[in-house]
Amino acid sequence: MAEVVIVTDAEAAGRLAADAILRRFARIDQPVLGVATGSTPLTTYRALASAGADLSGVRCFALDEYVGLPEGHPESYRAVLDREAVEPLGLDPALLAVPDASPATLASAGERYEAAITAAGGVDVQLLGIGTDGHIGFNEPGSSLASRTRVKTLTTQTREDNARFFDSIDQVPLHCLTQGLGTIRDARHLVLLAFGANKAAAVAAAVEGPVSSGVPGSLIQLHPSVTVLVDEAAASELQHADYYRLAYANKPEWQEL
Ligand code: PGA
Repeated sequence: MAEVVIVTDAEAAGRLAADAILRRFARIDQPVLGVATGSTPLTTYRALASAGADLSGVRCFALDEYVGLPEGHPESYRAVLDREAVEPLGLDPALLAVPDASPATLASAGERYEAAITAAGGVDVQLLGIGTDGHIGFNEPGSSLASRTRVKTLTTQTREDNARFFDSIDQVPLHCLTQGLGTIRDARHLVLLAFGANKAAAVAAAVEGPVSSGVPGSLIQLHPSVTVLVDEAAASELQHADYYRLAYANKPEWQEL
């Protein structure tokens, strides 16, 4: 099962996530980081930046990208990641790959992205947020657990949730390119973070509910190496919270996050 760690706040989760990433990367020659967008990973990026590690050789793959935004749009995930991850962490922008949403070549974009991940040797650590509807990446409810990178239609819920980054919901694209659940499952370690009461139901369903395409985040139950970092509010609907606290408080020193 996933290791579930209930922390006081998003900053503490960011520090643990950064630590998990850096400890793994210390053992790897050419580390590959799966980066996420949205509000959730920001404390992890901050903690990584203040750790001061040299990440200039780290190859990164984004989970997803909007389809239909003009190139260079400030809310395109390429632009968001350049701003929030590449610059503060000192990553090499040439080593950040984002699914290519150019209209002319959209039909082959998924296949090309999968090939690029494979050529890089796969993702070592994948950062994940979770949507209020249970999505990871932009795999909306109903996504095949075996899906690969492809074009998806966003749910109205997701577009409402992301409207805060745009002037209105009408400007949030209806389509995206996203790594599939099968793609995410291939990463060697998953770190899923969630903060706030509006994520509590999705977290409980993903961690403790049945594995189901109806809750794409439940894919984590099929993965052998997962860390879930949640604040108290996001943990509030977990049935086994006491057990997770007990396990973490008594974790053997040699067991890594
Ligand atoms: P958020 O989004 O980090 O902005 O809450 C998470 C997600 O939609 O996966």
